[in-house]
Formats: sequence, structure tokens, C-alpha cells
Amino acid sequence: MNIVVGGAQWGDEGKGKLIDILSEKTDITARYQGGNNAGHTVVVGDKKYVFHLIPSAILRKEKICVIGNGVVIDPKALLVELEELREQKISVSSKRLKIAANAHVILPYHRILDGLRESKRKNKIGTTGRGIGPCYADKVTRCGIRMIDLLNPKVLKAKLEDNLREKNEIFRKVYGQKSFPFGDIYKEYLDYGKKLRSYICDTALFLNKAIDEKKTVLFEGAQGTFLDIDFGTYPFVTSSNSIAGGVSAGTGVAPTKIDQMISAVKAYTTRVGEGPFPTEFSTHLKDDIRTKGKEFGATTGRPRRCGWFDSILVRYAVMVNGTTELAIMKLDVLDELKKIKVCVGYRYKGKIIKDFPLDLEVLQNVKPIYKELDGWQKPISGIRKFEKLPKNAKKYIDFLEKILETRIKYISIGSKRDEIIIR
Ligand code: GDP
Ligand code: IMO
Ligand code: MG
Repeated sequence: MNIVVGGAQWGDEGKGKLIDILSEKTDITARYQGGNNAGHTVVVGDKKYVFHLIPSAILRKEKICVIGNGVVIDPKALLVELEELREQKISVSSKRLKIAANAHVILPYHRILDGLRESKRKNKIGTTGRGIGPCYADKVTRCGIRMIDLLNPKVLKAKLEDNLREKNEIFRKVYGQKSFPFGDIYKEYLDYGKKLRSYICDTALFLNKAIDEKKTVLFEGAQGTFLDIDFGTYPFVTSSNSIAGGVSAGTGVAPTKIDQMISAVKAYTTRVGEGPFPTEFSTHLKDDIRTKGKEFGATTGRPRRCGWFDSILVRYAVMVNGTTELAIMKLDVLDELKKIKVCVGYRYKGKIIKDFPLDLEVLQNVKPIYKELDGWQKPISGIRKFEKLPKNAKKYIDFLEKILETRIKYISIGSKRDEIIIR
């Protein structure tokens, strides 16, 4: 089975934990989009690891990890991540990590532009400031620099000169900033090329050969459906296709070779950065759930905005991802609540809306319609069988399954590897 795991909300659903668990039974894990804007947490024993570019299966020593062509790579950040793994005595040889030669590279001017563009915007997006948007923009405008270019001094020189000519004018004339000197970046990036050379290859070829040899691949999505460049709450989104449809373009593995799509969702909703969020808490629950769920960004440390589960969003996510199974994460965070609400519709100008509205103006002004359920008010992290869950926790899961018309196969009840119920 080749399986996609993606987020069905605004990211941070717990994809890292799920990938770590599922990768026990698959051979290869491949990232297909995003970059080091992602922060995927894996907790093993009392150790916590946060991965930004390296797939979350890397802790399993016999597994292979791939950074696909759809990912934008900041080589500096990647080398830091590799070094951190080395310090933890986790060796990452070129047998274990493959980086797409045709993946695009984040350069210092992308990071700076990300911040400058954000500073000029009236309506801020709240980007992670990692240079993701400007790098994808260069890819699409056909002036991007790819990983393979770092291995060819002549090509890198020509492309970098071209880019700096244009970017430096923008820096000076639009933003009143200093120019970037060619020499420093050229030297720095040639050096990254040398350090990463052994990992760089044609990952589409590698993945397809492996699939032909009956190896199984897990595709690790970053961000979530409502941060997707096409289906998210545009412009408050990231710059790539995080939905399952992004897998083929981001790895070169055709849709006909993908068997399953698992969407991860939190038992409630969170969002980092700006943008509409109809079910956001306005009461003390805002702080209670943030504290209990440790809702602070794994990449930027920003406090995450928290709210009730929104079935209108997730139903739409199930549709655009073709979700075959759902994983409900962080159910334990709701343990203490007396009453739990689920958004089952939106009210807008006297009308009831049941489908996610693409018009942001509408989404920003809807009033959620809630179904209220009783809480279970018992700790559930020690439970390993669905039948053993408190009656009201089972009712909550059953209700979500019914309203989302999708099987909930995984229920996560703690951050650790074994804190999961598989049905
Ligand atoms: P990702 O970006 O989707 O991989 O998610 P993050 O790692 O950014 O955020 C999820 C957070 O929730 C991490 O701190 C995880 O360790 C934690 N987590 C994952 N599953 C559970 C769970 O079932 N219960 C609790 N309490 N924490 C969880
Ligand atoms: P994971 O993979 C949550 C958000 C940012 C911002 C918007 C655009 O850990 O779920 P960008 O830097 O991509 O241009 O920022 O997207 N964002 C995320 N929010 N989880 C993520 O990744 C995110 N990656 C980007 O906060 O609102
Ligand atoms: Mg995250």
C-alpha cells in the first residue's frame, strides 16, 4: 500500500506522530511539498524531536526518507537538522536520505523578501518567515535555482547573477535596502552543494523503481488543506498544494500508484498566523485548551489560535483529498470539558450554509451553528482499545464519523508513540 498522510485543517494536526507510527510498516517516507515552515513533532520515550525538512520516519533506522521535488529546500536549515540528528547518534547516510535534484532552493534573498513583503502588506498573512512564498514564486516564474544547480559552479554562477541583478534592484528601489553581494552567496551555496552532493539524485526514478520492486511509500504532507494554495483560505495560505493531489506533482509518483489517503485532524481546531477561523474560542477555553494541548508553534513558537471542531471544514477536506480514513488526534486534550461543541453549519445573512464557502468575505462573517455533546471528564491517555473509552468519548467519535461520512481508524490520546487506538 502507498499511503498519503495529510492535514485536514490548518496544519499541526499531529501528522508527525502519525507518520512515525505508520512508517513502522512501510519502507520509504517522502515529503512532497512545503519546506522548513513545517514543524512535525515525534515523541519517543521522554525524547521529543521536531522535524522541519527531514521526513518524520527518520528515527526508524532501517527506513529510507525522501525529500521530493515539490519541497523547497533551505540547505542551511537542512544541514542544521542533519547535525542535530548526528548529535543524537542517529546516522543519516545517503542510503537513508534522498534529496530531489529538481527540488528548488531557498536563498537568503527569499527569506529577506518574505519579511519585507509581509511588512508592506496591510492584511498580514503571518508567514513563518522562512522564504517559502518567494522561493515558490521564483520556481513558477522560472528563475528558481534547483538542488542540482548547486553541483555545477558554471550554472549556479549564471543563475545567481541573473537573480541578483533583478532582486538587488528590488531591494534597493522598492524597499530601500542594501544589495546582496554575489560572492558570499555563491561561495556559501557551492559549499552546501558539496556537503549535500551524496544525497542528491532523481527521487522520482528512485521512488518508482522502489514501487516496481513492491516497496511501500508513505507520503508525508506538510501544512493542511486550508493552507493549500488552491483550496485554503487564500491569501492566508502557504504557497504549495498540501492536499493529496500535490503528491504526484511533488514526487513524480502517479495518482494510479496511490492506494490510500489518511487525513489527520485534531479533535478541535487550531490555526497559527492570520486568517478567518469561524469556530475560534472567545472565552477562557482559548487559554485552557492552548495550555492543555501545548498549542505553541513547533517552528516559530507562536501561540496557536484554538477553537471547536469544524465539520464544515473537515467535510470539504475529506472531499478534496479523497480521504479514505481519518485519524483523530489529541482527543485527550478535551478530557476535562463538561460540554464539547461541534460546528455543523454556518449562518450567514439569515441563510444556513453547509458547504465550505470559497468567498473569504463570507467565511469571515459566518456564525457557527453548534451541536453540543457531553464531555467524558476522565483521563483517557492510558486506554488502548476503543471499547474501553468512556461512553461519551465513543459518542463523540461516532458523531464525527457520522457527520464526516468517513471511517475514523486512528484515535490519538497522547503525544507518545504508543498513545494511540487503532480500530
Ligand atoms: P504536525 O505539524 O501535524 O506534525 O503537528 P505538530 O507536531 O506541529 O503539533 C502537534 C503537537 O501535538 C505536537 O506537540 C505533538 O507532540 C502533540 N500531539 C500529537 N498527538 C497528540 C495527542 O494525541 N495528544 C496530545 N496531548 N498531544 C499530541
Ligand atoms: P505543519 O506542517 C501550521 C502557516 C503560517 C502562515 C501561513 C503561510 O507543521 O502543519 P508560510 O511561511 O508557509 O508562507 O506561511 O501558513 N503555516 C503553518 N501553520 N502548520 C504548518 O506546518 C504551517 N506552515 C505554514 O503560520 O499563516
Ligand atoms: Mg506542525
